[in-house]
Amino acid sequence: MSKTFDPDRVVIFDTTLRDGEQSPGIALNVMEKIEIAEQLQRLGVDVIEAGFPISSPGDFEAVEAIAQVIEESTVCGLARTGFEDIDRAWQAVRHAPHPRIHVFIATSPIHMERKLQMTPEQVKDAAVAGVARAKGYCEDVEFSPEDGTRSDPEFMVEVLQAVVDAGATTLNIPDTVGYTTPGEFHDLIAFVVDRVRGPDNLRISTHCHNDLGLAVANSLAAVAAGARQVECTINGIGERAGNAAMEEIVMAIKTRNDTYGVDTGIDTSQLARTSRLVARLTGYPVQYNKAVVGRNAFAHEAGIHQHGVLTDKRTYEIMDAESVGQATEIVLGKHSGRHAFSDALEKMGLKVQGDVLNQAFIRFKELADRKVQITEADLEAIVAEELGVQGDAWQLVDLVVMGGLEKTPTASVQIKRNGDRRLMTSDGDGMIDAACEAIRKALDIEARLVDFNVSSVTGGVDALGDVTVQIESGGMRASGRGVSTDVVEASARAYLSAVNKIVRAREHPQKESAEGESGP
Ligand code: KIV
Ligand code: ZN
Repeated sequence: MSKTFDPDRVVIFDTTLRDGEQSPGIALNVMEKIEIAEQLQRLGVDVIEAGFPISSPGDFEAVEAIAQVIEESTVCGLARTGFEDIDRAWQAVRHAPHPRIHVFIATSPIHMERKLQMTPEQVKDAAVAGVARAKGYCEDVEFSPEDGTRSDPEFMVEVLQAVVDAGATTLNIPDTVGYTTPGEFHDLIAFVVDRVRGPDNLRISTHCHNDLGLAVANSLAAVAAGARQVECTINGIGERAGNAAMEEIVMAIKTRNDTYGVDTGIDTSQLARTSRLVARLTGYPVQYNKAVVGRNAFAHEAGIHQHGVLTDKRTYEIMDAESVGQATEIVLGKHSGRHAFSDALEKMGLKVQGDVLNQAFIRFKELADRKVQITEADLEAIVAEELGVQGDAWQLVDLVVMGGLEKTPTASVQIKRNGDRRLMTSDGDGMIDAACEAIRKALDIEARLVDFNVSSVTGGVDALGDVTVQIESGGMRASGRGVSTDVVEASARAYLSAVNKIVRAREHPQKESAEGESGP
């Protein structure tokens, strides 16, 4: 990954773990964040915004842990201009080989008057002081005038010039409320490029929200105007309607190189896998017709289209499914052994060992008995679920359910953790409800199911059902996921994985953060 300034290179700054994680209902634990960060690095992301360290002990711990394992990508921590924020951000990223501190303060009249209750002069002073403080720790400092697109451009440029003079090397212009339009944003970025004077490596960046569905279009307009960093998230997740979707920006830049004339360092063949991982861990499914990573993005339904594609793919395809990692490759079958299994995982970049590997292999064998073709997506789903139940988590040992049109649905579950085995039976509104209720009773925990989502990992009647749930317990939310060819079993696994997070958070309170803590 190049760290020197190349005018034809657009730096991809991923904020899935910070702005993306601010989506309602997403609560990733440290292990899950590390898993995503490692995949982002594999994808070739230049900068990973790993979190907002002052916002919670859990966020701090995650940023620090990511800084310790990520070697290639820059690891960035967000901070307001207050010194306490900046000190905390530095403590979290300081072990990274390439650390960055991202300082922000709002510059729009409405934010300054109503939210900050500061005068423009005070905002400018705070911005300069914050950037200078960050620069004292770290060479790589980014500054964002929050709500930039609703700020007075003259005032914003004045602040930007002042922070560049204080040492900022990246200036990020956020469309915080998704208000701007491509033409307007192009002109604003061109104005900043033209007016702010700085060192040769000064980079102008863009950070667009999707309230009007324009985040990607606005980001690309900014690139056309000279922005050389784009802030984005996988699958476009983020506050409200989300952030600009990385996969769309990267593929637009690549496919329309004739228009943009720039490159990114992204290994596009990793896009689909990254999208699946983020969808699974966040519980935010990807819509079928989503550009680039949606399951229908390369499916041709109409006869005329199918005929055209069979004759020459280019008739109806502007990108190759393979180039974004969308072609489902069949990797293993019923007779594959342990060696082939772990070899396939390694080729897919999944590093698993010990208990997780053993458990995943058992699940693979069970699945191979029920399903003819085992795809990469299936393997990812199994491994991801097993990673979620490693360590001292409760595991599902057995599940028996009964139901029918006339009978009250009942479920018996057996779960175990180390030497502790529990068996519990419960009835419920349906078999899924009965299974979750039996788990809840076995662990004597109060937990309310607030969201339930089921989808299939791949197509076909024997597809793996992929269930994500969100539960709430004592003011804390946790999500869980489970996969199985049986939807009731997948649901029980998902529910148990969410319950495990609540149990773990209660047993190690400082390590887990409850969802809903504030972000910018
Ligand atoms: O949307 C926004 O303004 C932000 C800033 C912190 C960059 O997320
Ligand atoms: Zn944002």
